[in-house]
Amino acid sequence: MILGIESSCDDSSVCVSEIATKRLLFHRKISQEAEHAKYGGVVPELASRLHAVDLPRLLEEAAPYLDDLQAIAVTNAPGLSVTLLEGVAMAQALSIAKGLPIVAVNHLKAHIYSLFIERDTIFPLLVLLISGGHTMVLDVHGYDEIHTLATTMDDSFGESFDKVAKMMGLGYPGGPIIENLAKKGDPDRFDLPIPLQHSPKIAFSYSGLKNAVRLLVEEHKPLDERTKADIAAAFQKAAIAHLMQKSKKIFEKIRPKDFAIVGGASANTAVREAFANLCAQYGATLHLADLQFCSDNAAMVARCGIDGWAMEDFTDALTIEVSPRANF
Ligand code: KG4
Ligand code: ZN
Repeated sequence: MILGIESSCDDSSVCVSEIATKRLLFHRKISQEAEHAKYGGVVPELASRLHAVDLPRLLEEAAPYLDDLQAIAVTNAPGLSVTLLEGVAMAQALSIAKGLPIVAVNHLKAHIYSLFIERDTIFPLLVLLISGGHTMVLDVHGYDEIHTLATTMDDSFGESFDKVAKMMGLGYPGGPIIENLAKKGDPDRFDLPIPLQHSPKIAFSYSGLKNAVRLLVEEHKPLDERTKADIAAAFQKAAIAHLMQKSKKIFEKIRPKDFAIVGGASANTAVREAFANLCAQYGATLHLADLQFCSDNAAMVARCGIDGWAMEDFTDALTIEVSPRANF
């Protein structure tokens, strides 16, 4: 069995998976969203203190499995250094005490593996990763063969939802709030610019759109309920149109057989629908993770760790490092 530990941001999560069958035997997650909501975003110091309390508690729940462990998979990058350290410190202690190898897991790679929980991998795979920290298109050929085809020049897709929600005083995390509000709004009342629409660049940018929303919010203050819903709808429409325009260019080049959307924002129904259409147009199969595995969780970390274990991709417990950034 392999133990999975996740603490890259505001979710403390621990799981145990069976290596041979990939079965998830135990999986728990404590989300800190409610604690951070009052600040309108994640407060790193608070997140780290909550992980320090919750991770050992979750580990204790996994106690019946601990004698059967063969390895530990822990997220070590990218993420908030102070929160990553909490998970890594727990992995180090267990590794030294029980003589278990550590697989240091790249959080972005773990999101890709959220597709393969209790399943075999599908490669090659074109992947759109949309989360609070990243907006990327990845050409994935295997565990250690991942090429970045596009990334964001500034804010990420999920982050822009969080910031727009904050501007309108709607709470955190903004993704699901804006998505629900957009359903009630008129996406055509306001005309927001689609980022990099006239640029040949294959990249993403959300800061310009965010500023356009800021101006709209200022102009219509105090916002009535209908205007809030119309702004949410117009913003979501432009944000997704941008994803679609750039992804379409990549589809033209790569013509993928298999395409996936992963990351917390892949839960967005409008995104799923838009890409289902794009895939139908190009004859590609769309792969999505179970909704429970879209946001951060330990199950995807352990699943990635199973492939790392098979390749003996181990990191020394005494020298494992955390990093806010990570490349493939
Ligand atoms: O993957 P994740 O849990 O954490 C990171 O690795 O960043 O993603 C969280 C992000 C947040 O920015 C959240 O607002 C966004 O995903 N998100 C959504 C939706 N659900 C979550 N964005 C748009 N629509 C949603 N339904
Ligand atoms: Zn994530």
